[in-house]
Amino acid sequence: MNAPAKTEDFASSIPAGVYAETVLAVTHYTDRLFRFTMTRPQGFRFRSGEFAMIGLMVEGKPVFRAYSIASPAWAEELEFFSIKVPDGPLTSHLQAIKPGDQVLMRKKPTGTLVLDALTPGRRLYMFSTGTGVAPFASLIRDPETYEKFEEVILTHTTRDVAELKYGFDLVHEIQNDELLKEVVGDKLRHYATVTREDFAYRGRITDLISSGKLFTDLGVPPLDPAIDRGMICGSSAMLKDTKELLEKAGLNEGANSKPAEFVIERAFVG
Ligand code: A2P
Repeated sequence: MNAPAKTEDFASSIPAGVYAETVLAVTHYTDRLFRFTMTRPQGFRFRSGEFAMIGLMVEGKPVFRAYSIASPAWAEELEFFSIKVPDGPLTSHLQAIKPGDQVLMRKKPTGTLVLDALTPGRRLYMFSTGTGVAPFASLIRDPETYEKFEEVILTHTTRDVAELKYGFDLVHEIQNDELLKEVVGDKLRHYATVTREDFAYRGRITDLISSGKLFTDLGVPPLDPAIDRGMICGSSAMLKDTKELLEKAGLNEGANSKPAEFVIERAFVG
């Protein structure tokens, strides 16, 4: 059991500064990945790309973990894309949630994968591995992204093809949404690769940048700090390696307080 059966017990145990929201839908993609949506608290504001602390009461105590909010800032519901870690303090419990269950969320979202942390540019790369695609799921559904950039390239690399499904469904949803497809037009490009199975595009994104294959495949020039901007979300190792490549190309890391050519954020685990 993730939450006490009786709502009144649960309500009295909610810590201060925390919302308790209702799970609306849960989709399991593989034995490692799932997505869920929940109600959005009235008055909860965030910028597309930010993360929040999501939690559950486990044995009477709140357990939290950082989650990028995968829905855009305008959405009525909040969406999250999660790994399932068998002995993860939170995800081992969270993976069992069902519609109607209550999930906790701390009131203050934060993060650096926001448009405000980038200087103006023409082309925006979003480099993601695994569940690192989540903040970009938010940003590619935000009209502001397309107001600020002429071209948006979402790269998503996973171990196998099944793990790409969330990203493909997302792009499909955008292309079929009456309002979004107007805004997005042909500005969004999705470049999906896998590393441990056969697929049209194979390999780590770092190798595809180094070899130049990414740019050849997309038919775009190599990274140029005058034009290109980047956002990176993946494991610590992926962040480090991708960041080095962007820096080698002359792009500098930015932050909310000091916008520059790229920003990074760790895709959270556990
Ligand atoms: P690989 O299969 O070669 O390890 P995970 O599910 O473990 O988070 O991995 C997601 C994807 O990130 C995998 O395709 C994995 O490739 C890739 N990856 C892991 N480490 C790095 C790295 N340092 N740089 C780029 N990609 C990486």
